[in-house]
Amino acid sequence: MEALKNLSPEKVINVVRAAKNQYLEKKPTLEIYKKGEADFVTQVDVCIQEFVRAGLESLCPEIQFMGEEKDNHTIDFSKPFWIMDPVDGTTNLIHDFKCSCISLALCVHGKIVFGVICHLYLNELFYAIRGKGAWLNGKRLSVSRTTELSQGLICTGTSPYYKKELGASVFEDLKNVYFNCEDIRRTGSAALDMAWVAAGRADACFERRLCPWDFAAGIILIEEAGGSVSDFLGAPLEFYKKCDVIGGNGIINEHIRTRLLTKK
Ligand code: IPD
Ligand code: CA
Ligand code: CA
Repeated sequence: MEALKNLSPEKVINVVRAAKNQYLEKKPTLEIYKKGEADFVTQVDVCIQEFVRAGLESLCPEIQFMGEEKDNHTIDFSKPFWIMDPVDGTTNLIHDFKCSCISLALCVHGKIVFGVICHLYLNELFYAIRGKGAWLNGKRLSVSRTTELSQGLICTGTSPYYKKELGASVFEDLKNVYFNCEDIRRTGSAALDMAWVAAGRADACFERRLCPWDFAAGIILIEEAGGSVSDFLGAPLEFYKKCDVIGGNGIINEHIRTRLLTKK
């Protein structure tokens, strides 16, 4: 696709940065709407998504746009599309917990070729281009070299929107991993968990039933930093459905997989 060749990662990153800056400058009053159990959307989510969608459309109108806060049923998955979570960590945002990010990825023929994760409160912008590495503020990233789960710091998420259905298995998995690793972290942002695995700050992360916008940018960050990402059975993630996700330095992923309830 000719249009993709002219797409400049810098320009896309600038759109994401500008979205963050306008949020930080204007800080709209937080109107909160409930989408489901423990699931909220604020004006900030909607405004950031619209700002970035419009910016990307002017850069490359041919590329479709999938975003958490819109209806995505017309997306043609055989053609390129953006996958965006305008605020990953909305519950954190509502509580002023200051651990949220913008996550944006480009999917072409079923593969993520570009991803950016921008922390809303720290000066940290992660990005990766397929075949060109993963970067944080211009510094190349590598996953950790930890080989023993007992020395691993593991991020996880509690699948909060499916408490009744998944809560028991989520905490059974958590217990099995916790008793075998160094410790567990729960940041409240699956995308940041993945970025921090790419940066080697955590050795792996896992969570059941994430949406494509939670994990799309994280996949390329982890892979370009030398790690791997799959579902709980070891299969590649899909971008048209919810997936159970494990991302890590590659070695620790396998140690975790053997301790989860869902296994081959
Ligand atoms: C959520 C966050 C959270 C994770 C949930 C996600 P949202 O995304 O990533 O950490 O546990 O599963 O849905 O709703 O804040 O965009
Ligand atoms: Ca999310
Ligand atoms: Ca979100």
